[in-house]
Amino acid sequence: MTTKKIAVLFSGMGTNLENLFLKLHNKTFNDTKLEIALTLCNKEAALGIEKSRRYGVESVILKHESYPQREDFDKKLVEIIRAHDIDLSVLAGFMRILTPYFTKNVKAINVHPSLLPLFKGADAIHKGYASDEKEAGASVHFVNEELDGGEIILQKSFKRTFNMSYEEYEANIHKIEYEILPQAVIKLLT
Ligand code: GAR
Repeated sequence: MTTKKIAVLFSGMGTNLENLFLKLHNKTFNDTKLEIALTLCNKEAALGIEKSRRYGVESVILKHESYPQREDFDKKLVEIIRAHDIDLSVLAGFMRILTPYFTKNVKAINVHPSLLPLFKGADAIHKGYASDEKEAGASVHFVNEELDGGEIILQKSFKRTFNMSYEEYEANIHKIEYEILPQAVIKLLT
């Protein structure tokens, strides 16, 4: 049996991070054991840090403010990811724009709360809710130098009704994220 190591990068609540721990950590799929070997966060007050700790994985906190040059921050990220011998990095609410230095050196995927290519960038759930689109959902894609522009790995949608509250709309999107992000990791690593 082989073991594949995952790094999860996050910035905030860490509900996707927690879901990945629950569904994947130290579990075996098709004779491959998945291990979340590293979690990385750019905000020292992020709630996800405690969630990671609960699973026995201490988050590495790398404050982006300490790196005036975006690329220097990314170089440090790459150095840490390499030092942990990571097979796949997963961006789960990691709110940083990454430079080509990162995207060329790290195999990474990202979960985004819209049906890409719609609503790239920040605030995608609000943008989607305010739009006329009759379908909504989430996407998992490879990370490349174009923000939210890499090849799509998985996407799932729901029919949106216009009397749906914002809270219900958002909850539907998160539910889809919690399904497709672990599925994408399993698909790529096992
Ligand atoms: C998730 O909805 C994720 O799709 C989004 O941030 C949230 C993080 O929540 N990411 C982006 O918008 C990236 N462009 P979480 O910290 O509770 O997992």
